[in-house]
Amino acid sequence: MKPIIIEKKINSFSKKIFVDSDKSISIRWVLLASQATGKSTAYNLLMSEDVLSAIKCLKNLGIKVIIYKDKCEIFGNGINGFRFKKNIVLNAGNSGTLGRLILPLLIRAPIKIKLIGDRSLSKRDFARIIDPLKNFGATFFPKNKNKIPLFIKGSNFVRPIDYVEKKGSAQCKSAVMLAAINSPGVTKIKAKRSRNHTENFFKNLNIPINIKKSKSYDFIEVKGEKNFQGFTYNIPGDISSSAFFIVLTILSKNSYLIIKKININPTRDGVVKILKKMGAKISFRNKQLYKGEKIADIHVKSSKSLKAINCPQKFNTSAIDEFLIIFLVAAKAKGVSYFNNIQELNQKESKRLDIGSKILNMMGVKTKLTSKSIKIYGNPKLKINKKCIVKNFLGDHRIMAMSTIAALSIGGKWEIHNPECINTSFPSFFKILKKNLGAKIN
Ligand code: S3P
Repeated sequence: MKPIIIEKKINSFSKKIFVDSDKSISIRWVLLASQATGKSTAYNLLMSEDVLSAIKCLKNLGIKVIIYKDKCEIFGNGINGFRFKKNIVLNAGNSGTLGRLILPLLIRAPIKIKLIGDRSLSKRDFARIIDPLKNFGATFFPKNKNKIPLFIKGSNFVRPIDYVEKKGSAQCKSAVMLAAINSPGVTKIKAKRSRNHTENFFKNLNIPINIKKSKSYDFIEVKGEKNFQGFTYNIPGDISSSAFFIVLTILSKNSYLIIKKININPTRDGVVKILKKMGAKISFRNKQLYKGEKIADIHVKSSKSLKAINCPQKFNTSAIDEFLIIFLVAAKAKGVSYFNNIQELNQKESKRLDIGSKILNMMGVKTKLTSKSIKIYGNPKLKINKKCIVKNFLGDHRIMAMSTIAALSIGGKWEIHNPECINTSFPSFFKILKKNLGAKIN
């Protein structure tokens, strides 16, 4: 697809919007529904490329899936209920979550199964998943390869494991939890706190799980091999998708936005906590609890006097996907902001810390970058004077969306390549910008 051109800031707006559904929950629903016994139904399932890749993988493993206009049904055959035909190739596309969470469901596969993905996913680390799954009893080919394409072969003799997760990676934690339901006995996990959607699903499905919390670690025990029934789930809006619109509103003049029915799970809302500390006017209203997840409407106002932040590291995991968009606020804040120990950003769909810094520099913002930290020299009067061209970012949807929001809120002339990459996660992004908020994008 051709690049998009933006040459005009967005006009003031006062609107109510819905964003697309939560991607983490959508992918988990699809995978867990495939392990349930009987029919599961999801309403408001995210229909993005990453979720559709998950559905295709399951169909390849013999699971029946029906997509209707308003719902999706998955017919599971219980734990370890896949039908394995020869030469199965699973394509996780762009999705780290799918690639990393489908493997644990295959630790009993009687034959080799190939996992592939796109150019971006093929550069990402799979050792973090391969290592614990080997301990459960799975085998990977070629030996010592840490990236996809690779093959997994399961075992008849899987065993539970003890596992320590120190990065704050919900994907690693969840992969071990999903392997645990396929294993006999009790798997024990000590995990640095991270998004807890898998835990919430397990509790709701009566999968035997026990969680004890310390200050920054969770101690999780899962007892395996207990079948569970198909279930219904109504998926809330995605806070990571909302974050682009929160920042657009904060940085635009005289604007107000209500984003309806968003999952504000405290393990995901770091972006709001960080932005509020920087002086942004954001509030949660109409709070509800749904199957262990907190849902609310997010209200946000233009925020004039933004101040720099020395970002407390306790927010790092709960804002892990939102740092790029937070960097834009830091660029317009008064003072020097500092974000440390965020090296995981360079493990995402692209090297987000490095590329994010380059984009800020192109905008005329000074940064000091290390392999794990960034200092951003903010300027409330920031004006972009030279043309910004954003390309060669491995089709990372968050780099593309961050650039679009920078163009619409800070101004300047922008040429942003690969706009179609947004379809992996947030297919309504441009429609909301143009139709609901009146943005001029060519
Ligand atoms: C996700 C976990 C995070 C996040 C990703 C989604 C999940 O990755 O960046 O977008 O759904 O579990 P890590 O587990 O690698 O931190």
